[in-house]
Amino acid sequence: MHPKKEVAWEAAQLVDDAKKEVAHEAAMMVSDGQVLGLGTGSTAHYFIQKLGDRIKEEEIELMGIPTSYQSFFLARDCGIPLTTLDEHLPDLAVDGADEVDPELNLIKGGGAAHTLEKIVDSAAGKFLVIVDESKQVKRLGDFPVPLEVIPAAYRPVTEWVKSAGGIPSLRMAQMKDGPVITDNNNFVVDVQFKEIHNPHELEIALNSIPGVVENGVFAGITDQALVATSNGVKSFKKG
Ligand code: A5P
Repeated sequence: MHPKKEVAWEAAQLVDDAKKEVAHEAAMMVSDGQVLGLGTGSTAHYFIQKLGDRIKEEEIELMGIPTSYQSFFLARDCGIPLTTLDEHLPDLAVDGADEVDPELNLIKGGGAAHTLEKIVDSAAGKFLVIVDESKQVKRLGDFPVPLEVIPAAYRPVTEWVKSAGGIPSLRMAQMKDGPVITDNNNFVVDVQFKEIHNPHELEIALNSIPGVVENGVFAGITDQALVATSNGVKSFKKG
């Protein structure tokens, strides 16, 4: 392997190990009989796998409420019994994030699943975020804020965003021509803001644009964050 490629591969491997470590620690916090919100993304993936292992090895009884088709298929394959918000509210939701600030406000939606993630994570008795330390930021905003947008509203939504100082970009699909289509059959518009000074205000403003189904700012709903660092997993609780 080319030395540069080898360094990049080793760095990616370290991040992946960190995701696994924090996900496994979260899975060990789960108690027999709980209903769990199952997040989406590569970190949540390890959490779901570990829950499946615990069900098999310890014969504990759990139920999961998935936040995407991705977590639905994975949970089913891991033998986690599934339920819905109609039948149960989650005791605990565990999910990854793209950015976490010191007040535990988040940007999510790198996997375009933020609408259902916000519904399930908000409905949970406790919302636990699991990340590697690359996701910790002093202030949200380097990562663009994803908006799930009804296709017919694409043009007016982007005009509104530009007038508010954001730079919108339609998320394009890979291995499919054209835009990403979400689990709810909508577009995703990623919006780069210069700086986000008030996540709570921005979250409300973005959701007030006609045609925006949900945005990826999660302000004030995280109860605890577990962060995988080079010195082990650290816990941060809502202040
Ligand atoms: C899914 O839409 C996202 O909100 C993910 O939870 C977020 O992008 C974190 O993903 P990773 O755990 O893969 O970094």
